Amino acid sequence: MGHGLLAGRQGIVFGVANKRSIAYACARAASEQGARLILTYQGERLREGVEELAAALPGEALALPCDVSSDAALDAAMAAIAEQAPRLDFAVHSIAFAEKAELEGEFLDTSRAGFLKAHEISTYSLIALAQRLAPLMNEGGSLVTMSYLGGERVVPHYNVMGVAKAALESAVRYLAYDLGPRGLRVNAVSAGPIRTLAAAGIANFSDMLEIGRTRSPLRRNVEASEVGDATVFLCSELARGITGSVLFVDAGFHCTAL
Ligand SMILES: NC(=O)c1ccc[n+]([C@@H]2O[C@H](COP(=O)([O-])OP(=O)(O)OC[C@H]3O[C@@H](n4cnc5c(N)ncnc54)[C@H](O)[C@@H]3O)[C@@H](O)[C@H]2O)c1
Repeated sequence: MGHGLLAGRQGIVFGVANKRSIAYACARAASEQGARLILTYQGERLREGVEELAAALPGEALALPCDVSSDAALDAAMAAIAEQAPRLDFAVHSIAFAEKAELEGEFLDTSRAGFLKAHEISTYSLIALAQRLAPLMNEGGSLVTMSYLGGERVVPHYNVMGVAKAALESAVRYLAYDLGPRGLRVNAVSAGPIRTLAAAGIANFSDMLEIGRTRSPLRRNVEASEVGDATVFLCSELARGITGSVLFVDAGFHCTAL
């Protein structure tokens, strides 16, 4: 067995779109710590790129499709995943979506369809995955999802995604309660703003970066690698007493009132 916090562990990271994806930073950090990995991507359009990214990791990694937008698609994806990895030690959920129109104007204008879509893809997908992953997970297994401060406080333009993140963080607590007796842990990382594909959909994202850079205790923004490292910690034995928590990796911005 190799060295590292996740040596000999099998994990899966959901939501790799490209090299900037937080999911990929998590995969890189886990791979560097000795994990065997499956990376998943939404659909065929992303296959080639993600296969290349999986091959570029230091450890073993496979890339498989996983669309979370229907139970049928999820069941098909999970069948292929279980074939490749019948037992899992950790899983990272790094998936969110809201229509661009919902992330521009006022929250007051949120549409019914936009609300449902954001919650289905960004929040329900964690529950749907937890249902399917729990039976595959070894005792001590860990599930980590990605959240943002906009789920707790108002961040202009984050709108319906903030409400979806509030629901996601609550789902983390309820899942932690249900899965705890099976020896499984569920936590969220609340990341500071990072330039990714998903972030590009948020109006005035540059302002979020600028405010983070000037007003965080550390006076800088975070790198995706820092989110990856914290995620590895939550997936590792070192975090065996931690479940139902939200861990901020945001250069401390959440503690300020500036
Ligand atoms: N970038 C930031 O500033 C930031 C900050 C805090 C939290 N987050 C969260 O981190 C997570 C990852 O986002 P990111 O910033 O790395 O952007 P990203 O665009 O790289 O990742 C989002 C992923 O969601 C996937 N996805 C969307 N719809 C899907 C579907 N139906 N089925 C399967 N996958 C689907 C996309 O394919 C993509 O891989 C999200 O939950 C996001 O809200 C991001």
